[in-house]
Amino acid sequence: MSNRVCDILGIEYPVIQGAMAWTSMSPLVVAVSEAGGLGVLGSGFMPAHIIAAQVEEVRKATDKPFAANLFLDPGPQLEIGCQAIIDNKVPVAYVDTLNLLEYDMAKKYYDRLHAAGCKIVAKINCLSDALVAEKAGADVIIAKGVEGGGHCAKISGSVLLAEVTQNISSVPIVASGGIAIPIQAAACTVVGAEGVEMGTAFVATFECPVHENVKNAIVKAQDIDIISCGSCTGEPSWQINNNLAKRLVEIEETNTKVAAAPLFMEASEGSLRIASLEGEVEEAGAVLSGQVAGLIHSIRPVKELVADFCVEWEACLKQTYTLM
Ligand SMILES: Cc1cc2nc3c(=O)[nH]c(=O)nc-3n(C[C@H](O)[C@H](O)[C@H](O)COP(=O)(O)O)c2cc1C
Repeated sequence: MSNRVCDILGIEYPVIQGAMAWTSMSPLVVAVSEAGGLGVLGSGFMPAHIIAAQVEEVRKATDKPFAANLFLDPGPQLEIGCQAIIDNKVPVAYVDTLNLLEYDMAKKYYDRLHAAGCKIVAKINCLSDALVAEKAGADVIIAKGVEGGGHCAKISGSVLLAEVTQNISSVPIVASGGIAIPIQAAACTVVGAEGVEMGTAFVATFECPVHENVKNAIVKAQDIDIISCGSCTGEPSWQINNNLAKRLVEIEETNTKVAAAPLFMEASEGSLRIASLEGEVEEAGAVLSGQVAGLIHSIRPVKELVADFCVEWEACLKQTYTLM
């Protein structure tokens, strides 16, 4: 399988593993890049010395391309993350924003990263951001739909992908949000995607360095078990509906937005770490998972989500066209 995404990023298969804070650490990144996809370090909130250590671990284990996450949002972390990507010569910057993408800021940081030899993968949530990313010089654009794991995006994946592929042709588009099986990738190809990004599906792999209980919770969850929490903070994210999530929802439902925000922050503090590292996934741990959990039925090896996935993706496409 080879196309513009593979050529630009120097990878074998157009499969990108989404950046996941404190989840896509070096073991997962190495496994994905070694399998021929693009592994992405969840470095968006990491201090510089941890980014450097993670990059070193990746480099020790693979010579394949990989990426590191940078949030293009104002604040000290933007400068720390950008400089760490440059200093550590990370080949690809995976640039996301929690707000609307501003052209001047995008151009400034894309140019700086390009000058250091990085390729730019821009992840966007709406058409206007995709157009800004294209104009500012992104090399690849990921269009992430609302169903995708992590912070809830805005627009449904099917609408967003069609909007972006209808309006942008100079930059290849990668579909993201709710993808776990090859037939979905085939459907995205028909709409114009040249690659797929998966996040939640990569959490439920043997190589992902989170606690087994997190992986099993994703495997066990059905579609309606995934709920959106935290709109009072302005950054709602998808998580599995456990006892912690129920308490968080109650805080949001029984308080004004302003009053709920600090209570929510206090009740959820450290909850991702408690689930990911300690494996407590019911009372105090938050299991972040996109709506796609209902399509994930087992813990799989990374290779199944990269090379094997692409073989079946091509077969699905051939089958689709013979149906017409
Ligand atoms: C546990 C978890 C943590 C995430 N953390 C981040 C992050 O730090 N930065 C980011 O850009 N996206 C983050 N995401 C979003 C993923 O990079 C990706 O865009 C998303 O998971 C794709 O949707 P899917 O989960 O349906 O495959 C996270 C997703 C999950 C499941």
